[in-house]
Amino acid sequence: MGLTQKILLFTGLMIVALVGTTLAFTTVQADRLARTTVQEALSDSRAVWESYQADRFNNLKARLGALANDPFLKPLIEEGDEKDIADTLKERAADIRPDLFLATDPFGVVLARADGEPAGQDLSADPLVSGALEQGRPASTLWRQGARLYHAVSAPMTTGEDTKGVLVAGYEVNQALAEQLRKLTHCEIAFLSEGAGQAPQLAASSLAGQASLLLPALAATASSAEMAPFNLDLGGERFIAVQAPLKDASGRVLGRVVALRSLAREMAGFLRFRDSLVLVSLGVMAVALLLATLGARRITGPVRTLVGLVERARDGSYSGAVAVHTGDEIGVLARAFNSLLAELREKEQLIQFLNEGMTQLKRTGDEQATLSASDETAAIKAVSAQAGVQVEKGQLFAGRYEILGTLGKGGMGIVYRAEDKRLDEVVALKVLRPEVLENDPTLLQRFKEELRLARRITHKNVLRTHDFDVTQDGTPYISMEYLEGVTLKELVQGKGALPAGVGLRVSKQMCAGLNAAHQQGVVHRDIKPHNMLILPETGELKIMDFGIARRSEMQADGGLTTDGMVMGTPDYMAPEQAQGQPADFRSDIYALGVVLFEIFTGRLPFQGETLMATVLKHIQEPPPDPRKLNPRLPAELAQVILRCLEKDPARRFQRAGDIHKELTAASSRLAAPAAA
Ligand SMILES: Nc1ncnc2c1ncn2[C@@H]1O[C@H](COP(=O)(O)OP(=O)(O)OP(=O)(O)O)[C@@H](O)[C@H]1O
Ligand SMILES: [Mg+2]
Repeated sequence: MGLTQKILLFTGLMIVALVGTTLAFTTVQADRLARTTVQEALSDSRAVWESYQADRFNNLKARLGALANDPFLKPLIEEGDEKDIADTLKERAADIRPDLFLATDPFGVVLARADGEPAGQDLSADPLVSGALEQGRPASTLWRQGARLYHAVSAPMTTGEDTKGVLVAGYEVNQALAEQLRKLTHCEIAFLSEGAGQAPQLAASSLAGQASLLLPALAATASSAEMAPFNLDLGGERFIAVQAPLKDASGRVLGRVVALRSLAREMAGFLRFRDSLVLVSLGVMAVALLLATLGARRITGPVRTLVGLVERARDGSYSGAVAVHTGDEIGVLARAFNSLLAELREKEQLIQFLNEGMTQLKRTGDEQATLSASDETAAIKAVSAQAGVQVEKGQLFAGRYEILGTLGKGGMGIVYRAEDKRLDEVVALKVLRPEVLENDPTLLQRFKEELRLARRITHKNVLRTHDFDVTQDGTPYISMEYLEGVTLKELVQGKGALPAGVGLRVSKQMCAGLNAAHQQGVVHRDIKPHNMLILPETGELKIMDFGIARRSEMQADGGLTTDGMVMGTPDYMAPEQAQGQPADFRSDIYALGVVLFEIFTGRLPFQGETLMATVLKHIQEPPPDPRKLNPRLPAELAQVILRCLEKDPARRFQRAGDIHKELTAASSRLAAPAAA
């Protein structure tokens, strides 16, 4: 799975998880809230029911009490004329509007009914009637007649001590009541009548369509305690219900009142909210995924380019660059990668360049190789004699080094390739002219001191110096790491100005080595292309001769030679050094500037007729513009070079590391060659 898909999947899952958790949490909360609301409403409904019941009884009692003393009705009852009584009851019923209205004789037998039902039932055993008959007081109770339930009130009709009969009036517990209670309590109300040993019957309910489902649902639920909430399922709709028994005045159970409330209806508001939340979440998810895609592209685009470049680099092609200018990790990675590619590219260019150079050099080398062994022995002898050094091929120098051949000749002596017999290792041995020390007796000590410092520099761009010593016959020598390579001087002399990439690679390595030395407090004092050794296989550059720069180059009288001996070249000498002032890090930076000038233009900035004229130019003349000599040189590089060549040390770069930074930036900016 690609990075983009991973980011999208992650974003999607995050949103789903977030919305899912929110929904689950709010649903649970809403359900709990709904249950609490429902249960509170249900338990409140009982008080409403009871006060309604009390109202009904009081209402009936008051009106029936008045009727019981009706001077017109009483004689009618005494006479017992059913027809007249029934008519009168109907007439009076218009006032009380009862659902049930009847009158009995003094024995509790129904004389007449306002509802036109046949009379004659014996109600003497019914507590409602018997109570009124026996105690002569009105009574009230829930009353069941068949499957119907009533709020019924009885009132005795007395004349003096005699009870002439009983009036019974009742309001039915019917659908109208259930609906009224529903309006007040917001709960569905159902009344069930139950005779002893009979299945309960629905007397009335406010449940419209679901009424028929109530009895089976109740039958299926375990009976619960009075007013304890229980769940009820009516045709798939969830209800919470409470129930209470309906009892008459004597405590006999006549039925049940059930109050119930739909959870679904309670949750309806929340469910609508939840639906819109889901919709909004889907919208948010779509937008988030879109943004995530854009964001992911921004991240993965450069990464993909990087991957492509890395793969090409693995296959040996270092062209191309990633264009990311952000300050985040991707930007840092891209910049680091660009400069890595630039490094690799330059390294490749340098190695290629060196290979071409080496074939040229080899051709000249081959001519030398044709020298016979005896010719070479003679050559070493001749060179040594010329330098005033007594060394021959095959000789064991200083009892330790077997001379194998010459490597070169410099201002202070000759460098031989030799085998260190003690360490069984090939080394470079620089044998100094005896006069070097003779002219300055303190030099031996200073040399030793300086070499001791220089040996502390361990950097890949600094050639290791092993030892400094003097043979028994007084010849001073230095042993150092031997590496096969070409000096930068040879390279520039052979090829002229180096191509920008090659020059940058060389320059950065010089800066790195010099910076490492400066950090150890070591000043080179003799930075010049002759002292830069480049290894053709790797393109690695080593700065040579740290700590062994000649001290007596400039005599106090300004002479450039000592005893007729040319002590090197003033071409790279900083103005302050040329004026006899002590050299410091900035003098090395000036010399480096001359080297940079030379490798990027193929020419030295100052060249006089005589050594003295050259020295004066370094002191007095402003350097020429390197771009005049090499118009292809990037302006930023020319600026770096000129800043190194400032006459005033304070105006130069103060650290080789700073030059390295500038050169690295220039490398990255140099247009990458077209993709291969
Ligand atoms: N460690 C080494 N490994 C391989 N070749 C070396 C080594 N040191 C010196 N050479 C070779 O010997 C030559 C002479 O070196 P030398 O340092 O004596 O001369 P120079 O650098 O021209 O002058 P200077 O005396 O100012 O340093 C160099 O140009 C180089 O080719
Ligand atoms: Mg040297």
